[in-house]
Amino acid sequence: ARRLVVLVSGTGSNLAALLAAHEDPAYGARVVGVVSDRAGVAALDRARAAGVPTAVVALADFPDRAAWDRALAEAVGVFSPDLVVMAGFMKLVGEAFLARFGGRAVNTHPALLPAFPGAHGVRDALAYGVKVTGCSVIVVDGGVDSGPIVAQTPVVVEPDDDEDSLHERIKAVERTLLVETVGAVARGGLRVDGRHVRVGGG
Ligand code: GAR
Repeated sequence: ARRLVVLVSGTGSNLAALLAAHEDPAYGARVVGVVSDRAGVAALDRARAAGVPTAVVALADFPDRAAWDRALAEAVGVFSPDLVVMAGFMKLVGEAFLARFGGRAVNTHPALLPAFPGAHGVRDALAYGVKVTGCSVIVVDGGVDSGPIVAQTPVVVEPDDDEDSLHERIKAVERTLLVETVGAVARGGLRVDGRHVRVGGG
């Protein structure tokens, strides 16, 4: 199985879905490490409960962002991943990280990119008044949710939605999309050609 390292910052519901999927050997990938930029988050408890080793690399513990980024790359590298999955990881990675894991790191985002990138994808979509939003799995690049798109699922906005209700409905399809996409990448590879991405199948 391909080795996955999952980067988290919070609740870890997407991580939980990956941890459930990897129980099946046919899935093709195993979560071998979880790295958080925040101590004490629920995602770390989920990893520990599943017997997966964890590490915390907090920005505040480093003199600057570049030093933090190097330490993050180092902490991820300890697990020798084939693929890095950002699942609710709320920090931008930098040059050191991308030099090592660029092209084999994906991120999940709760909006239909390129609309509503950033930390508040659900809130921003509601504020704009879109009738359809969704979730995206993208290849990580140096920008804010700007990398090539791997897969997306739409979600209809209901008239009474608030940020929580809409985010919950997005998360329900997001975990399925993330699990399916990561499995397909693990089994078939990821080819990135400019903005265009192909998963598996030659
Ligand atoms: C997910 O909806 C993810 O897409 C979002 O945070 C949530 C994390 O949930 N990430 C971003 O907004 C990144 N820009 P989780 O911790 O329960 O998996």
